[in-house]
Amino acid sequence: MATLPLYKQKVVEEIRLISRSERLKSLKRADFNPFMLHSEDIAVDLLTDSGTGALSQEQCAAEEEGDETYCGSKSWRALEHSAKSVLGFPYVIPVHQGRGAEHVVDFVLVKKGSLVPGNAHFDTTKANIEVMGGKPIDCTISEAYDPSSGLPFKGNIDLPRLEKILKKHGTKIPYVLSTITCNQVGGQPVSMKNLKESSALCKKYGIRFFLDVARFAENAYFIKKREKGFGKRSIKSIIDEMMSYADGALMSAKKNALNQSGGLILLRNKELFEILQPYGALFAGGIQYGAMSGKAMASLAVGLKEGVKERYLEYRVAQIEYLGNKLREIGVPIVLPIGGHAVFVNAGEWLPQIRWNLFPGHSLACALYLEGGVRAVEIGSLLENRDPKTRENRRAKWELLRLAIPHRLYVKEHLDYVADVFRKLSEKRSSVRGVEFVRETYPMRHFTSKFRLIKS
Ligand SMILES: Cc1ncc(COP(=O)(O)O)c(C=O)c1O
Repeated sequence: MATLPLYKQKVVEEIRLISRSERLKSLKRADFNPFMLHSEDIAVDLLTDSGTGALSQEQCAAEEEGDETYCGSKSWRALEHSAKSVLGFPYVIPVHQGRGAEHVVDFVLVKKGSLVPGNAHFDTTKANIEVMGGKPIDCTISEAYDPSSGLPFKGNIDLPRLEKILKKHGTKIPYVLSTITCNQVGGQPVSMKNLKESSALCKKYGIRFFLDVARFAENAYFIKKREKGFGKRSIKSIIDEMMSYADGALMSAKKNALNQSGGLILLRNKELFEILQPYGALFAGGIQYGAMSGKAMASLAVGLKEGVKERYLEYRVAQIEYLGNKLREIGVPIVLPIGGHAVFVNAGEWLPQIRWNLFPGHSLACALYLEGGVRAVEIGSLLENRDPKTRENRRAKWELLRLAIPHRLYVKEHLDYVADVFRKLSEKRSSVRGVEFVRETYPMRHFTSKFRLIKS
Protein backbone atom coordinates (compact mmCIF):
# COMPACT_ATOMS: atom_id res chain seq x y z
CA MET A 1 0.00 0.00 0.00
CA ALA A 2 1.20 3.51 -0.82
CA THR A 3 2.50 5.65 2.05
CA LEU A 4 0.22 8.44 3.16
CA PRO A 5 2.04 11.80 2.94
CA LEU A 6 2.33 13.64 6.26
CA TYR A 7 1.13 17.00 4.97
CA LYS A 8 -1.34 18.67 2.64
CA GLN A 9 -0.58 21.94 0.86
CA LYS A 10 -2.26 25.15 2.02
CA VAL A 11 -0.08 27.78 0.39
CA VAL A 12 1.76 27.07 -2.83
CA GLU A 13 4.40 28.69 -5.01
CA GLU A 14 4.50 28.01 -8.73
CA ILE A 15 7.64 26.41 -10.11
CA ARG A 16 8.73 26.91 -13.70
CA LEU A 17 11.45 25.32 -15.74
CA ILE A 18 13.18 27.87 -17.93
CA SER A 19 14.59 26.65 -21.25
CA ARG A 20 18.07 25.16 -21.58
CA SER A 21 19.38 28.28 -23.35
CA GLU A 22 17.96 30.45 -20.56
CA ARG A 23 19.59 28.19 -17.98
CA LEU A 24 22.93 28.58 -19.71
CA LYS A 25 22.46 32.35 -19.74
CA SER A 26 21.54 32.25 -16.08
CA LEU A 27 24.59 30.13 -15.21
CA LYS A 28 26.87 32.52 -17.10
CA ARG A 29 25.33 35.49 -15.33
CA ALA A 30 26.07 33.66 -12.05
CA ASP A 31 29.71 33.17 -13.14
CA PHE A 32 29.24 29.39 -12.90
CA ASN A 33 28.63 29.70 -9.18
CA PRO A 34 25.23 28.14 -8.30
CA PHE A 35 25.11 30.27 -5.12
CA MET A 36 24.60 33.25 -7.46
CA LEU A 37 21.59 31.87 -9.35
CA HIS A 38 18.21 33.58 -9.04
CA SER A 39 15.54 31.49 -7.31
CA GLU A 40 12.99 32.07 -10.13
CA ASP A 41 15.41 30.32 -12.48
CA ILE A 42 15.59 27.16 -10.35
CA ALA A 43 13.17 24.25 -10.76
CA VAL A 44 14.09 22.17 -7.69
CA ASP A 45 16.41 23.73 -5.13
CA LEU A 46 18.45 21.22 -3.15
CA LEU A 47 21.16 23.70 -2.19
CA THR A 48 20.43 23.38 1.51
CA ASP A 49 18.04 22.19 4.18
CA SER A 50 18.84 25.34 6.13
CA GLY A 51 15.98 27.80 6.59
CA THR A 52 14.40 26.66 3.33
CA GLY A 53 11.61 24.47 4.71
CA ALA A 54 7.89 25.10 4.94
CA LEU A 55 6.40 26.41 8.20
CA SER A 56 3.49 24.62 9.82
CA GLN A 57 0.16 26.39 10.37
CA GLU A 58 0.99 26.35 14.08
CA GLN A 59 4.26 28.20 13.44
CA CYS A 60 2.46 30.75 11.27
CA ALA A 61 -0.16 31.24 13.98
CA ALA A 62 2.59 31.72 16.58
CA GLU A 63 4.24 34.29 14.29
CA GLU A 64 1.06 36.33 14.31
CA GLU A 65 1.54 36.74 18.05
CA GLY A 66 5.27 37.46 17.74
CA ASP A 67 6.20 39.99 20.42
CA GLU A 68 8.72 42.53 19.16
CA THR A 69 9.44 44.06 22.58
CA TYR A 70 13.19 44.69 22.84
CA CYS A 71 13.56 43.06 26.27
CA GLY A 72 11.21 40.82 28.22
CA SER A 73 9.33 39.71 25.10
CA LYS A 74 6.78 36.89 25.45
CA SER A 75 8.24 35.28 22.33
CA TRP A 76 11.70 35.12 23.92
CA ARG A 77 10.28 33.51 27.03
CA ALA A 78 8.37 30.97 24.90
CA LEU A 79 11.56 30.18 22.99
CA GLU A 80 13.70 29.89 26.11
CA HIS A 81 11.15 27.57 27.67
CA SER A 82 10.91 25.41 24.54
CA ALA A 83 14.72 25.21 24.14
CA LYS A 84 15.18 24.19 27.76
CA SER A 85 12.49 21.54 27.58
CA VAL A 86 13.63 20.04 24.26
CA LEU A 87 17.40 20.25 24.78
CA GLY A 88 17.70 20.24 28.55
CA PHE A 89 20.38 22.91 29.11
CA PRO A 90 19.62 25.48 31.82
CA TYR A 91 21.23 28.50 30.10
CA VAL A 92 20.32 29.81 26.65
CA ILE A 93 21.81 32.63 24.56
CA PRO A 94 19.95 33.57 21.37
CA VAL A 95 21.91 34.36 18.20
CA HIS A 96 20.99 35.05 14.58
CA GLN A 97 22.08 31.64 13.25
CA GLY A 98 24.56 28.82 13.79
CA ARG A 99 27.66 30.75 12.72
CA GLY A 100 26.67 33.48 15.18
CA ALA A 101 26.91 30.90 17.97
CA GLU A 102 30.30 29.79 16.64
CA HIS A 103 31.58 33.35 16.47
CA VAL A 104 30.56 34.20 20.04
CA VAL A 105 32.00 30.96 21.49
CA ASP A 106 35.23 31.11 19.48
CA PHE A 107 35.80 34.82 20.09
CA VAL A 108 35.91 34.10 23.80
CA LEU A 109 37.44 30.62 23.95
CA VAL A 110 39.78 30.25 20.96
CA LYS A 111 43.21 31.91 21.08
CA LYS A 112 46.13 31.93 18.66
CA GLY A 113 47.50 28.37 18.66
CA SER A 114 44.34 26.77 20.12
CA LEU A 115 43.30 23.37 18.80
CA VAL A 116 39.69 22.30 18.42
CA PRO A 117 39.38 18.55 17.77
CA GLY A 118 36.12 16.85 16.90
CA ASN A 119 34.54 14.89 14.11
CA ALA A 120 34.50 16.75 10.78
CA HIS A 121 33.70 20.42 11.43
CA PHE A 122 31.28 22.29 9.18
CA ASP A 123 32.83 25.02 6.98
CA THR A 124 31.69 28.02 9.06
CA THR A 125 32.72 26.18 12.23
CA LYS A 126 36.19 25.67 10.81
CA ALA A 127 36.47 29.23 9.49
CA ASN A 128 35.38 30.75 12.82
CA ILE A 129 38.09 28.77 14.64
CA GLU A 130 40.69 29.72 12.03
CA VAL A 131 39.98 33.45 12.01
CA MET A 132 40.68 33.46 15.76
CA GLY A 133 44.06 31.81 15.07
CA GLY A 134 42.98 28.32 16.13
CA LYS A 135 43.19 25.03 14.28
CA PRO A 136 40.26 22.66 13.80
CA ILE A 137 41.30 19.00 13.90
CA ASP A 138 39.30 16.32 12.13
CA CYS A 139 39.24 13.18 14.28
CA THR A 140 36.39 11.40 12.49
CA ILE A 141 36.86 7.62 12.25
CA SER A 142 38.70 6.69 9.04
CA GLU A 143 35.74 4.61 7.73
CA ALA A 144 33.81 7.87 7.41
CA TYR A 145 35.75 8.56 4.22
CA ASP A 146 35.28 5.10 2.77
CA PRO A 147 32.16 5.26 0.59
CA SER A 148 31.91 1.46 0.55
CA SER A 149 31.80 1.17 4.34
CA GLY A 150 28.27 0.58 5.54
CA LEU A 151 29.03 1.35 9.19
CA PRO A 152 25.91 2.72 10.85
CA PHE A 153 27.65 5.59 12.70
CA LYS A 154 30.21 7.03 10.35
CA GLY A 155 30.08 10.40 12.14
CA ASN A 156 31.83 8.92 15.19
CA ILE A 157 34.97 10.46 16.67
CA ASP A 158 38.07 8.24 16.57
CA LEU A 159 38.55 7.96 20.34
CA PRO A 160 42.17 6.71 20.48
CA ARG A 161 43.13 9.56 18.13
CA LEU A 162 41.24 12.08 20.24
CA GLU A 163 42.89 10.82 23.41
CA LYS A 164 46.35 11.16 21.88
CA ILE A 165 45.62 14.80 21.03
CA LEU A 166 44.08 15.56 24.43
CA LYS A 167 47.09 13.99 26.18
CA LYS A 168 49.66 15.87 24.11
CA HIS A 169 47.96 19.27 23.69
CA GLY A 170 45.37 19.41 26.51
CA THR A 171 46.20 22.96 27.60
CA LYS A 172 45.72 24.30 24.08
CA ILE A 173 42.23 22.84 23.68
CA PRO A 174 39.32 25.08 24.70
CA TYR A 175 36.72 22.49 23.75
CA VAL A 176 36.05 19.35 21.71
CA LEU A 177 33.13 19.51 19.26
CA SER A 178 30.99 16.63 18.04
CA THR A 179 28.69 17.58 15.15
CA ILE A 180 25.49 15.52 15.18
CA THR A 181 24.75 14.48 12.49
CA CYS A 182 28.04 15.14 10.75
CA ASN A 183 27.30 17.15 7.60
CA GLN A 184 30.81 17.06 6.16
CA VAL A 185 30.97 13.26 5.97
CA GLY A 186 27.54 12.79 4.42
CA GLY A 187 25.02 13.59 7.16
CA GLN A 188 26.23 10.55 9.08
CA PRO A 189 25.14 10.10 12.70
CA VAL A 190 27.19 9.76 15.87
CA SER A 191 26.31 6.87 18.17
CA MET A 192 25.26 7.32 21.79
CA LYS A 193 28.21 5.16 22.81
CA ASN A 194 30.61 7.48 21.00
CA LEU A 195 29.02 10.59 22.56
CA LYS A 196 29.29 9.02 26.00
CA GLU A 197 32.90 7.97 25.53
CA SER A 198 33.97 11.29 23.94
CA SER A 199 32.41 13.07 26.90
CA ALA A 200 34.20 10.79 29.39
CA LEU A 201 37.55 11.38 27.66
CA CYS A 202 37.05 15.14 27.77
CA LYS A 203 36.17 14.93 31.45
CA LYS A 204 39.30 12.89 32.13
CA TYR A 205 41.45 15.67 30.64
CA GLY A 206 39.36 18.53 32.05
CA ILE A 207 38.23 19.80 28.64
CA ARG A 208 34.74 20.99 27.69
CA PHE A 209 32.68 18.78 25.38
CA PHE A 210 30.31 20.66 23.06
CA LEU A 211 27.84 19.48 20.44
CA ASP A 212 26.87 21.10 17.16
CA VAL A 213 23.15 20.33 17.31
CA ALA A 214 21.98 21.68 13.95
CA ARG A 215 20.66 18.18 13.11
CA PHE A 216 20.30 16.63 16.55
CA ALA A 217 16.80 15.21 15.95
CA GLU A 218 17.87 13.23 12.88
CA ASN A 219 20.83 11.94 14.93
CA ALA A 220 18.44 10.81 17.69
CA TYR A 221 16.28 9.01 15.12
CA PHE A 222 19.29 7.14 13.73
CA ILE A 223 20.29 6.10 17.27
CA LYS A 224 16.80 4.70 17.76
CA LYS A 225 16.90 2.82 14.46
CA ARG A 226 20.52 1.69 14.32
CA GLU A 227 22.01 1.42 17.82
CA LYS A 228 21.49 -1.68 19.90
CA GLY A 229 19.28 -1.15 22.94
CA PHE A 230 17.56 2.04 21.73
CA GLY A 231 14.76 0.66 19.53
CA LYS A 232 12.11 0.97 22.21
CA ARG A 233 13.29 4.29 23.63
CA SER A 234 11.38 7.50 22.86
CA ILE A 235 13.08 10.21 20.79
CA LYS A 236 12.72 12.52 23.82
CA SER A 237 14.62 10.15 26.11
CA ILE A 238 17.34 9.64 23.47
CA ILE A 239 17.76 13.41 23.06
CA ASP A 240 17.89 13.85 26.84
CA GLU A 241 20.67 11.28 27.09
CA MET A 242 22.61 12.72 24.12
CA MET A 243 22.55 16.19 25.66
CA SER A 244 23.42 14.91 29.15
CA TYR A 245 26.95 14.12 27.92
CA ALA A 246 27.64 17.68 26.77
CA ASP A 247 28.74 20.84 28.56
CA GLY A 248 27.12 22.94 25.89
CA ALA A 249 25.71 23.04 22.39
CA LEU A 250 25.79 25.34 19.39
CA MET A 251 22.64 25.36 17.33
CA SER A 252 21.68 26.56 13.92
CA ALA A 253 17.89 26.69 14.36
CA LYS A 254 17.39 26.56 10.59
CA LYS A 255 17.65 22.80 10.21
CA ASN A 256 16.05 20.34 12.65
CA ALA A 257 14.38 23.15 14.61
CA LEU A 258 12.36 23.80 11.44
CA ASN A 259 12.77 27.56 11.45
CA GLN A 260 13.74 29.98 8.72
CA SER A 261 16.25 31.85 10.89
CA GLY A 262 17.83 31.81 14.31
CA GLY A 263 20.34 30.03 16.46
CA LEU A 264 21.14 29.29 20.07
CA ILE A 265 24.06 28.71 22.42
CA LEU A 266 23.05 26.25 25.15
CA LEU A 267 25.11 25.85 28.30
CA ARG A 268 25.21 23.91 31.51
CA ASN A 269 27.68 26.12 33.35
CA LYS A 270 26.44 29.43 34.77
CA GLU A 271 29.87 31.02 34.90
CA LEU A 272 30.56 30.35 31.20
CA PHE A 273 27.05 31.57 30.36
CA GLU A 274 27.75 34.85 32.15
CA ILE A 275 31.04 35.25 30.29
CA LEU A 276 29.53 34.53 26.85
CA GLN A 277 26.22 36.35 27.20
CA PRO A 278 27.58 39.91 26.79
CA TYR A 279 29.41 38.84 23.62
CA GLY A 280 26.10 37.51 22.30
CA ALA A 281 24.74 41.01 22.83
CA LEU A 282 27.79 42.53 21.14
CA PHE A 283 27.93 40.32 18.03
CA ALA A 284 24.43 38.91 17.54
CA GLY A 285 21.76 41.03 19.18
CA GLY A 286 20.21 41.78 22.56
CA ILE A 287 20.34 39.06 25.22
CA GLN A 288 16.67 38.29 24.72
CA TYR A 289 16.47 38.18 20.94
CA GLY A 290 19.94 37.69 19.48
CA ALA A 291 18.94 39.27 16.13
CA MET A 292 15.83 37.14 15.79
CA SER A 293 12.55 39.01 15.39
CA GLY A 294 9.78 38.25 17.88
CA LYS A 295 8.01 36.42 15.02
CA ALA A 296 11.07 34.26 14.37
CA MET A 297 11.43 33.40 18.06
CA ALA A 298 7.73 32.53 18.32
CA SER A 299 7.86 30.18 15.34
CA LEU A 300 11.14 28.65 16.54
CA ALA A 301 9.57 27.88 19.92
CA VAL A 302 7.02 25.76 18.04
CA GLY A 303 9.43 24.36 15.41
CA LEU A 304 11.75 22.95 18.07
CA LYS A 305 8.91 20.77 19.32
CA GLU A 306 7.65 19.76 15.86
CA GLY A 307 11.12 18.77 14.67
CA VAL A 308 11.52 16.05 17.31
CA LYS A 309 8.26 14.22 16.60
CA GLU A 310 9.06 10.62 15.71
CA ARG A 311 6.44 10.49 12.95
CA TYR A 312 8.05 13.46 11.28
CA LEU A 313 11.57 12.08 11.58
CA GLU A 314 10.48 8.78 10.09
CA TYR A 315 8.92 10.60 7.12
CA ARG A 316 11.96 12.82 6.65
CA VAL A 317 14.59 10.10 6.72
CA ALA A 318 12.45 7.97 4.36
CA GLN A 319 12.38 10.88 1.88
CA ILE A 320 16.17 11.11 1.78
CA GLU A 321 16.41 7.33 1.38
CA TYR A 322 13.90 7.42 -1.48
CA LEU A 323 16.02 9.84 -3.51
CA GLY A 324 19.24 8.02 -2.61
CA ASN A 325 17.88 4.67 -3.74
CA LYS A 326 16.56 6.15 -7.00
CA LEU A 327 20.04 7.46 -7.79
CA ARG A 328 21.62 4.11 -6.96
CA GLU A 329 19.24 2.41 -9.41
CA ILE A 330 20.62 4.66 -12.16
CA GLY A 331 24.17 3.80 -11.13
CA VAL A 332 25.07 7.13 -9.53
CA PRO A 333 27.61 6.46 -6.75
CA ILE A 334 26.47 7.90 -3.45
CA VAL A 335 27.76 7.89 0.11
CA LEU A 336 26.35 4.97 2.08
CA PRO A 337 24.56 4.51 4.38
CA ILE A 338 22.25 7.28 3.17
CA GLY A 339 22.48 10.14 5.66
CA GLY A 340 19.98 12.26 7.51
CA HIS A 341 19.36 15.44 5.55
CA ALA A 342 20.87 14.91 2.13
CA VAL A 343 22.08 12.50 -0.50
CA PHE A 344 25.79 12.90 -1.18
CA VAL A 345 26.87 11.98 -4.71
CA ASN A 346 30.47 10.86 -5.11
CA ALA A 347 31.22 13.29 -7.94
CA GLY A 348 34.93 12.41 -7.98
CA GLU A 349 34.02 8.82 -8.87
CA TRP A 350 31.19 9.65 -11.27
CA LEU A 351 33.21 12.23 -13.22
CA PRO A 352 36.70 10.67 -13.22
CA GLN A 353 37.80 12.95 -16.08
CA ILE A 354 37.81 15.98 -13.71
CA ARG A 355 40.89 16.43 -11.49
CA TRP A 356 40.27 17.30 -7.82
CA ASN A 357 41.56 20.87 -8.24
CA LEU A 358 39.11 21.46 -11.08
CA PHE A 359 36.38 20.66 -8.54
CA PRO A 360 34.29 17.69 -9.75
CA GLY A 361 31.50 18.39 -7.22
CA HIS A 362 31.13 22.00 -8.30
CA SER A 363 31.33 21.04 -11.98
CA LEU A 364 28.56 18.50 -11.42
CA ALA A 365 26.46 21.18 -9.69
CA CYS A 366 26.77 23.36 -12.83
CA ALA A 367 25.98 20.43 -15.16
CA LEU A 368 22.94 19.41 -13.09
CA TYR A 369 21.54 22.90 -13.23
CA LEU A 370 22.10 23.12 -16.94
CA GLU A 371 20.48 19.75 -17.53
CA GLY A 372 17.30 20.28 -15.52
CA GLY A 373 17.34 23.42 -13.38
CA VAL A 374 18.25 21.47 -10.21
CA ARG A 375 20.52 23.29 -7.76
CA ALA A 376 22.87 21.45 -5.38
CA VAL A 377 26.19 22.24 -3.72
CA GLU A 378 29.75 20.97 -3.71
CA ILE A 379 31.22 19.45 -0.56
CA GLY A 380 34.82 18.88 -1.56
CA SER A 381 38.09 20.65 -2.26
CA LEU A 382 36.42 23.95 -3.15
CA LEU A 383 34.77 24.02 0.27
CA GLU A 384 38.02 22.90 1.92
CA ASN A 385 39.55 26.20 0.87
CA ARG A 386 43.27 26.97 1.14
CA ASP A 387 45.57 26.35 4.05
CA PRO A 388 45.64 29.68 5.94
CA LYS A 389 49.44 29.48 6.29
CA THR A 390 50.74 27.97 3.06
CA ARG A 391 47.85 29.25 0.88
CA GLU A 392 47.92 25.91 -0.94
CA ASN A 393 44.59 24.41 -2.01
CA ARG A 394 43.60 21.81 0.56
CA ARG A 395 42.57 18.54 -1.03
CA ALA A 396 39.35 17.16 0.45
CA LYS A 397 39.21 13.50 1.34
CA TRP A 398 36.58 13.12 -1.39
CA GLU A 399 34.71 15.22 -3.93
CA LEU A 400 30.97 15.22 -3.23
CA LEU A 401 27.83 16.91 -4.47
CA ARG A 402 25.23 17.39 -1.75
CA LEU A 403 21.53 17.16 -2.58
CA ALA A 404 19.96 18.53 0.60
CA ILE A 405 16.22 18.09 1.02
CA PRO A 406 14.50 21.11 2.58
CA HIS A 407 12.15 20.26 5.45
CA ARG A 408 8.52 19.64 4.44
CA LEU A 409 8.93 21.43 1.09
CA TYR A 410 9.08 18.84 -1.66
CA VAL A 411 7.12 15.67 -2.36
CA LYS A 412 7.91 12.45 -4.20
CA GLU A 413 7.32 13.92 -7.67
CA HIS A 414 10.05 16.51 -7.11
CA LEU A 415 12.48 13.76 -6.13
CA ASP A 416 11.46 11.66 -9.15
CA TYR A 417 12.18 14.68 -11.33
CA VAL A 418 15.65 15.11 -9.80
CA ALA A 419 16.40 11.42 -10.42
CA ASP A 420 15.31 11.84 -14.04
CA VAL A 421 17.69 14.77 -14.53
CA PHE A 422 20.49 12.53 -13.25
CA ARG A 423 19.38 9.80 -15.64
CA LYS A 424 19.67 12.20 -18.60
CA LEU A 425 23.01 13.53 -17.39
CA SER A 426 24.29 10.02 -16.91
CA GLU A 427 24.35 9.44 -20.69
CA LYS A 428 26.65 12.41 -21.29
CA ARG A 429 28.61 12.62 -18.08
CA SER A 430 31.94 12.01 -19.82
CA SER A 431 31.52 15.40 -21.51
CA VAL A 432 31.11 17.34 -18.22
CA ARG A 433 34.04 19.74 -17.85
CA GLY A 434 35.88 21.00 -14.79
CA VAL A 435 35.88 24.63 -13.63
CA GLU A 436 38.63 27.09 -12.81
CA PHE A 437 38.63 30.38 -10.93
CA VAL A 438 38.14 33.67 -12.71
CA ARG A 439 38.18 35.40 -9.33
CA GLU A 440 38.84 33.61 -6.04
CA THR A 441 37.61 35.19 -2.83
CA TYR A 442 38.51 34.64 0.85
CA PRO A 443 37.23 33.51 3.34
CA MET A 444 34.32 31.20 2.41
CA ARG A 445 35.39 31.28 -1.22
CA HIS A 446 32.62 28.97 -2.43
CA PHE A 447 29.96 31.64 -1.85
CA THR A 448 31.38 34.46 -3.92
CA SER A 449 34.12 33.19 -6.23
CA LYS A 450 33.68 33.40 -10.00
CA PHE A 451 34.43 30.48 -12.31
CA ARG A 452 34.63 29.47 -15.94
CA LEU A 453 34.45 26.06 -17.58
CA ILE A 454 37.87 24.80 -18.61
CA LYS A 455 38.46 24.32 -22.31
CA SER A 456 37.81 20.76 -23.43
C1 LIG B 1 26.60 21.23 11.00
C2 LIG B 1 26.42 22.70 10.81
N1 LIG B 1 26.85 23.55 11.74
C3 LIG B 1 26.71 24.88 11.63
C4 LIG B 1 26.12 25.43 10.51
C5 LIG B 1 25.99 26.93 10.40
O1 LIG B 1 24.68 27.30 10.63
P1 LIG B 1 24.02 28.59 9.98
O2 LIG B 1 23.91 28.32 8.51
O3 LIG B 1 22.70 28.73 10.64
O4 LIG B 1 24.92 29.73 10.25
C6 LIG B 1 25.64 24.58 9.50
C7 LIG B 1 24.99 25.15 8.32
O5 LIG B 1 24.64 24.49 7.36
C8 LIG B 1 25.82 23.18 9.65
O6 LIG B 1 25.40 22.32 8.70
